Amino acid sequence: MMIVEIIEKVRQKEQLTNEEITFFLNGYLDGTVKDYQMSAFLMAICCNGLTESEVFQFVECYLQSGKQLVFPQSDCLVDKHSTGGVGDKVTLVVAPIVASLGIPVIKMSGRGLGLTGGTIDKLESIPGYRVNLSMEEIRNQVEKIGIVVTSPTEDIVPLDKRTYALRDVTGTVSSIPLIAISIMSKKIAGGAKKFVFDMKYGEGAFLKTRQEAEQLAALMGKIALFYHCKVDFIYSDMSSPLGNAIGNRLEVLEAIDVLQGKVKGKLRKTCIEVASKMVALALKIPLEKAQEKVIKTLEDGSAYQKFTTWITTQGGDLTSLSIPCPKIPYVAKKSGKIQKIHARKIAFCAKQLGASRDSLEEQINYASGIYLCKQEQDEVQQGEVLAYLYTDKKELPQLDACFEIVQEK
Ligand code: URA
Repeated sequence: MMIVEIIEKVRQKEQLTNEEITFFLNGYLDGTVKDYQMSAFLMAICCNGLTESEVFQFVECYLQSGKQLVFPQSDCLVDKHSTGGVGDKVTLVVAPIVASLGIPVIKMSGRGLGLTGGTIDKLESIPGYRVNLSMEEIRNQVEKIGIVVTSPTEDIVPLDKRTYALRDVTGTVSSIPLIAISIMSKKIAGGAKKFVFDMKYGEGAFLKTRQEAEQLAALMGKIALFYHCKVDFIYSDMSSPLGNAIGNRLEVLEAIDVLQGKVKGKLRKTCIEVASKMVALALKIPLEKAQEKVIKTLEDGSAYQKFTTWITTQGGDLTSLSIPCPKIPYVAKKSGKIQKIHARKIAFCAKQLGASRDSLEEQINYASGIYLCKQEQDEVQQGEVLAYLYTDKKELPQLDACFEIVQEK
């Protein structure tokens, strides 16, 4: 089989056979297909898409490239995945809620690149928290306390690790079939059979429209069905940040506030929605019943208690969550109503303060970030604090363009 012919077939929108897909993807793993050939192949897919049967064969090859984990609890495991957004700390709240109801949670999360930190970056901002557990440690911890959140083990879909790194630098991330293959293969390999996906769309997410989010969800749903998995979806608008905190440790502190019942609003609502869907799937109960159970764990403190057990068991020190950076107020230049807080622009400013990175080699300053003191639709007076910036950096970003304030006539 000729590598170049396979690339040309995709370019000409001809359907690939299973053998051609397997040959090409395995060839990439063993080095016979080079990075430049894979880049051309990915770009052709980005432009011309893949058929459903091609997508299924890709997922199969991705899964075969590593190990599929099996746990004694696999049949009742329920996992969640967010397509990622600004201020998204939902996993930190939802995982202990679900575990506190006796449903085992084994979650493998990633680091963030670009504008936001990932869940693992957020957890790593807790001094001592161990993000690289071995399979034996994962099994022991879930047996003992019913919850683990860790980085993926080395053998989880190695083909995705390599292709994702290449997509990141070749402008080929935003392809719906490639995203569906990448997400679903990792989720299926992680050992659960039931998943709730939080599909973020809007300027602060990589899916810009609800329509794109729905297209991706539809394809992910088909892959799930093919692998006898159950899925549910929520759709959330990411044109403004989720919650008040943007930055890793600040987000952990905000998640704790939600678990302690100190925060209401959109963040709490999203956490309840995701957790309720997970509980409904896991326990096979109606959504309203699941929601009652979820809210009770927040009100009676059991979710927070599970959180502290989880973090301390995994080595984290919850008494060391101070923010040592200088706290710099950013004040409103005029009075009026806040019409919009732009997620993408805020995330860009938080990144300039050190809260996220472009490559895994760059260091994050875990304590840096932005804390919003106001939300959309709030009234603000000139000179009032809109946000606090936490950073050691001397050069500060301008936040003016992040807030749209409309003066009342
Ligand atoms: N997240 C993933 O895991 N894969 C993608 O392709 C895009 C986002």
